[in-house]
Amino acid sequence: MASPNLTSSLRETRVFPPPAEFAARAHVQNFAQYQALYQQSVSEPDRFWAGVARELHWFHAPEQGLDWDQAASRVRWFADGTLNMSDNCIDRHVAGGRGEHTALVWEGEPGEVRALSFRELLLEVGRCSSMLRALGVAKGDRVAIYMGTTPEVAIAMLACTRIGAVHSVVFGGFAPQAIADRILDADCRVVLTQDGTYRRGTEIPLKRSVDEALRQCPSVRSVVVFRRTGSPVAMEPGRDLWWHEQMAGAEPLCPPEPLGAEDPLFILYTSGTTGKPKGLVHTNGGYAVQTYLTTRLVFDLHPDDIFWCTADVGWITGHSYVLYGALQNGVTTLLYEGAPNCPDPGRFWQLIDRHRVTAFYTAPTAIRAFMQWGPGYPRAARLDSLRVLGTVGEPINPEAWMWYHSEIGRGRCPVADTWWQTETGAHMLAPLPGAIPTKPGSATLPFPGIVPAIVTKAGEPVPAGHGGLLVIRKPWPSIARTIWGDHARYVQTYWAEVPGSYFSGDGARQDDDGYFWLMGRVDDVINVSGHRLGTMEIESALVAHPRVAEAAAVGKTHQLKGQAISVFVTLEAGARPSPELREELRSWVAREIGSLARPDDVRFVQALPKTRSGKIMRRLLRELAEHGEIKGDTTTLEDFAGLAKMREGDEA
Ligand code: WT7
Repeated sequence: MASPNLTSSLRETRVFPPPAEFAARAHVQNFAQYQALYQQSVSEPDRFWAGVARELHWFHAPEQGLDWDQAASRVRWFADGTLNMSDNCIDRHVAGGRGEHTALVWEGEPGEVRALSFRELLLEVGRCSSMLRALGVAKGDRVAIYMGTTPEVAIAMLACTRIGAVHSVVFGGFAPQAIADRILDADCRVVLTQDGTYRRGTEIPLKRSVDEALRQCPSVRSVVVFRRTGSPVAMEPGRDLWWHEQMAGAEPLCPPEPLGAEDPLFILYTSGTTGKPKGLVHTNGGYAVQTYLTTRLVFDLHPDDIFWCTADVGWITGHSYVLYGALQNGVTTLLYEGAPNCPDPGRFWQLIDRHRVTAFYTAPTAIRAFMQWGPGYPRAARLDSLRVLGTVGEPINPEAWMWYHSEIGRGRCPVADTWWQTETGAHMLAPLPGAIPTKPGSATLPFPGIVPAIVTKAGEPVPAGHGGLLVIRKPWPSIARTIWGDHARYVQTYWAEVPGSYFSGDGARQDDDGYFWLMGRVDDVINVSGHRLGTMEIESALVAHPRVAEAAAVGKTHQLKGQAISVFVTLEAGARPSPELREELRSWVAREIGSLARPDDVRFVQALPKTRSGKIMRRLLRELAEHGEIKGDTTTLEDFAGLAKMREGDEA
């Protein structure tokens, strides 16, 4: 994983300057302005971020900026300040005279539309906060949210933040075991869910998954069920309650609780190389400040913008941009419940036209799917409301970037490739679209206040043009503060790898202009459709199957998804490989973790290649999955025992 192994054949030379008309009304209008802003932000970071913080509402304005205990890897920002996220997302705009402006527009997959003004949202969130309090939820308590895309999921998240409860949103595509693991890890006692949601014309029974998960979670005392589809669900007396009944009697006036900037705001789980998923903890102040500013500058938002980020709220992109970034900026945010190809592959473009979307933010995996569906669908739409486009989740190939730019942006709209992570909370590398020329495939330059570097494992900078590890030299406001219940793992994962710097786990290079080109993860984490999946979760699901003895999962290149999952399994004595078992194992993983984790291929092998210390040699498996062979090695495909012997000690 050292830098010399990271070679890149990508050399892209096209450059797109910001369109003049766009730049003329942008918050940051030219490259010199960006440079000045960046310089000031890194030479006086406390002063820079304090200036941004002042644009939000604080009950007690902070005097302090960054407080970094390097030895303990403890980061605090604005620690003496108090504020409230829902207050900044809602009340601040109502108080400022924008109560009638639309905060949320939602479209269901079957086609229903609901809109809520900031004033209406205030009442709904107030009611939901009162409901949570009535259920005994207090400041600091963790609340699990397992819902589809509805206005109610936004209301639920905002209501938690209003009373200082810590939400843990579990992506609606996760299976019961994954829900249970997350509920248990954070010790959630209250779960908010809904009967079901629509996806590609069929109903996904969310409540049923919760019921199954809760068999393992005896300390959950209340489950509140929002009725979305109306399908019958089992309601357990004494535990399960209907959302509409609880909300009907709840008091809409519920003042936001002043919370410490360093009080936890939410926990969000993400995958690592080994061990169980990590519950990353984000806190109130720094996260609010950086999501506010990045949304404003990277999408160049103005009061009348209609912002659509297609991510599910169950991922960090949904938290930071669908919800908190957009609403703190007082713009309208669009939520769409369903699939991009329902009822046909033109759905997204019709949504953009129908709701007059001005800023559109999606993932390379989606863009590649649109490309495959053909240009006829976007060409049938006007798309004239669009001003700016964004992408996130994985490196975007220049071809997809160009397609996005010409077919969706019609050559008029800047494309912002945004690099960041669940851990970073907000954008880290991204163009400011009125100021920074873009190059297809590059996340361009650091956001103000961010100090990235490309280094060797020893932390030495590598020259321009060479691949290395992407690190961040200094803490930024929205960095995750810890892993829930395991600060040692946080230190180990992010601060110990390259001493003194935050280690992102990504490889990258900088070109002669200083532009960053991401090259993917340097560890074993698999990135499927822009979502990180740890090999560990997939492997433990597989070995839980009665016929599987051992399993290893690796990623391999996939045209649409970025990476696909290949698994290698050895069977228990007496079990025989068969096409049926292969299919059964694929469904098994999908059932255990969620369909995102369904392996694309399953290979039965006699043994897994291991080092003397027993570590699976994934590098070899990756080569096998990718090329069907290990280069320069005549060992037959599935004769791993011999292979392992030959390579022993390689990665001990
Ligand atoms: C990993 C973070 C950040 C929200 C979505 C995923 C990859 C993300 C880019 C990009 C190249 C990217 C990285 C990163 N990634 N955005 N613009 N260019 N790679 O959040 O699940 O925490 O995954 O996604 O590998 O480390 P996440």
